[in-house]
Amino acid sequence: METLFVTGGAGFIGANFVLDWIRETGGRVVTLDQLTYAGNRHNLDDVADDPRHVFIHGDIRDRALVDATFARYRPDAVVHFAAESHVDRSIHGPAAFIETNVVGTFTLLEAARAYWMGCGASERARFRFLHVSTDEVYGSLGAHEPPFTERSPYAPNSPYAASKAASDHWVRAYHHTYGLPTVTTNCSNNFGPYQFPEKLIPLVICNGLKGEALPVYGDGQNVRDWLYVGDHCEALRVVLERGRVGETYNIGGDCERSNLAVVHTVCALLDELRPHAAIGDRRALVRFVSDRPGHDRRYAIDAGKIRAELGWRPRETFEGAMKKTVAWYLAHEDWVAGVISGEYRDWVERHYQRERAGL
Ligand code: NAD
Ligand code: TYD
Repeated sequence: METLFVTGGAGFIGANFVLDWIRETGGRVVTLDQLTYAGNRHNLDDVADDPRHVFIHGDIRDRALVDATFARYRPDAVVHFAAESHVDRSIHGPAAFIETNVVGTFTLLEAARAYWMGCGASERARFRFLHVSTDEVYGSLGAHEPPFTERSPYAPNSPYAASKAASDHWVRAYHHTYGLPTVTTNCSNNFGPYQFPEKLIPLVICNGLKGEALPVYGDGQNVRDWLYVGDHCEALRVVLERGRVGETYNIGGDCERSNLAVVHTVCALLDELRPHAAIGDRRALVRFVSDRPGHDRRYAIDAGKIRAELGWRPRETFEGAMKKTVAWYLAHEDWVAGVISGEYRDWVERHYQRERAGL
C-alpha cells in the first residue's frame, strides 16, 4: 500500500486531495499541517477514524519533526501543499511567505534528501517529491498573448508569487544537483469545497448569501483561468503516478473568465438556489473597490503537455462545477461559521477598510 506524506493537507486543495486519494486509491496518508488560519482540522473529518490516515499538527520548518515523520512512516512520496497562499496577505505581510514558502520548502527538501539517500535501491527509485505550485510564477499576460507553457519565463509580480517562484527554483536545484526525484506542477486558480472565504469565489458566495457588498477590485476585467479542485487533485494523482522526474507540468481549466463574469455567475446561482425577496438581484451588491497593488491582469494556462503526455484533462465544466460549489457552501454554513475566526474578522476589517479608503 502506497504511503504519502502530505504537507498542508488541512487546507483547501490539500484536504480535497487527501480525501480523494484515500477514497480513490485506498492508500495511506500522513498529513502534516500547522493549522494556520487557513488550515482546519475538520476538513479531514471524513477520514478522522480511518486507519489509513494520520494527522500530525506541526510546522514544515521544524526539521526534527519532519525527519521523525519520514523515519517513522517511510513515505513513497511527498506531496507538498503547505504554503501561505493569499496574494493580498502577502502584500500586507510578506515575511510569513518567505518563512513558509521558501524556508519551509527548503527544510522539507533537506529532510527529503536525507531520507531518500538512506533508502534502499527500490525505495529510492520509487520515491517522488511532488511540489504543488502556481501559474502566478509566470507573471501577467496581455489580452492577446498566448497562454503560459512550461517554457514561459518566470516573472513573479506579487510577494506570494515571488515566494512560490523561489520554492520552485529550490526544488529544481535539488533535482539537478542531488538527483532528488522531484516533479513540479503549476496550476491555475482553483475553486470548490473547503476554500477559505478570503478568496474571491467563496467570499462572494458568503457575502452574497447574507446580502452584503461584493468587493470587486479595479474594473473587474482581470482574467483568471479557473479549474475545479477535484480536477486539480486528479491531475496531481496522474503526475504522481506517471509524471517524468525532473519535469514541470502546467495544469489549467482552459477556462478564462473576467472577475466580474465570475461574480455574476455566482450571483445568478445564489439567486436560483437561495432566492431572497429582500435582497433581490444579487448583482446589485457588486461594489468596485480600489485595485490590488500590482494586480496581475491575466493568467491563462496551456495544459497541452500534461494532456499529451499523461492523458489528463478536466472532467468538469465551469458552470457545472460552480453550481456544485455554491450548493456545497449553502449546505455547509456551519463549516463557514467555524473557520471564520477573530483573526479572519480582523483581516477583513483591515483589508477592506483600506480598500474602501482607497489607500
Ligand atoms: P490554503 O491556504 O488553503 O492551505 C494551506 C495549508 O498549509 C493550510 O492548511 C495551512 O495550515 C498549512 N500551512 C501553512 N503554513 C504551514 C507550515 N509552516 N507548516 C505546515 N503547514 C502549514 O492553500 P491552498 O489554496 O490549498 O493551496 C495549496 C497549495 O497549492 C499552495 O502551495 C498554493 O501555492 C498552491 N496553489 C493554489 C492554488 C489555488 O487556487 N488555491 C492554485 C495553484 C497552486
Ligand atoms: P484570489 O481568489 O485572491 O486569487 P489570486 O489573486 O491568487 O488570483 O483573487 C482572484 C481574483 O479576484 C484576483 O484577480 C483578485 C480578485 N478579487 C477581487 O476582485 N475582490 C476580492 O475581494 C478578492 C479577494 C479578489
